[in-house]
Amino acid sequence: MRIDIITCLPRLLDSPFSHSILQRAQDKGLAEVYVHDLREYAVNRKKQLDDYAYGGGAGMVMMIEPIDRCISALKAEREYDEVIYMTPDGEQLNQGTCNELSLRKNIIILCGHYKGVDQRVRDAFITREISIGDYVLSGGELAAAVLSDALIRLIPGVLSDETSALTDSFQDNLLAPPVYTRPAEYNGMKVPDVLLSGHAAKIEEWRHEQAVERTKQRRPDIFKE
Ligand code: ADE
Repeated sequence: MRIDIITCLPRLLDSPFSHSILQRAQDKGLAEVYVHDLREYAVNRKKQLDDYAYGGGAGMVMMIEPIDRCISALKAEREYDEVIYMTPDGEQLNQGTCNELSLRKNIIILCGHYKGVDQRVRDAFITREISIGDYVLSGGELAAAVLSDALIRLIPGVLSDETSALTDSFQDNLLAPPVYTRPAEYNGMKVPDVLLSGHAAKIEEWRHEQAVERTKQRRPDIFKE
C-alpha cells in the first residue's frame, strides 16, 4: 500500500511513521508513506495557501489551486483508489472502514486546516471524507496519522502472528478481553486460574465470555447477540 499525505505542516508528520510497527512495515516494503508539503504547490510569490471566506466570517479557507496542483502531480504518476479528506464532518472512522481501506493499493490523504478547504476541492477531487471522532483537532495531520496507522497494521505481514489484528478490539464487533503477563501474582492480585491452566479450549471460552461482558458493559451500541 502506498499512502501520499498532503499537508501544509509536513513537519508534524516527521515522527509517527519513523518508529516501531509503521517503520518496520516500510522497511519490509509492505507500506510506503510520502508526505507532501502543500506550500511547494503554492501559486503566488507569497506562497499563500489560504484566503478569506467569501461571504465573510471568521477563519481562513484553504485555496483550491495549490491542492489541485499537488493532487494532479500525484495522479500523473499513478492511479489512486481513494482521495480521502480528513475532516470532523466526515463519516466516522471505525474498524470496518479500516478493514475495507487497507485493501486499497494507492491512497491520497488530504489534511485540512483553518476553516477547511474550499468546497470545490471536496466536490472535484475527494472520494471519501473521514472523521476520527466528534471533536475538532487543529488540523488533519494527526487524524491522517491515526488513519494511516490503523490501515498499515492491517496489511498482511505487518504484524506478527502473536499480535495478529484478528484478535483486536472491534473485529467481530467485540472489545478485546483482558490480558495478563508475569508475575502470576502481584501484591495479592492474581491472574485468573484459567489462563494458567494450559487448557486451550477453556481459555478461548473464557476470553470470549470476557469480551462479550466488556462489550455489553462498555459499548452496548456495537454489541450484537
Ligand atoms: N480535522 C480536525 N478535526 C478532525 C477530526 N476529528 N477528524 C478528522 N480530521 C479532523
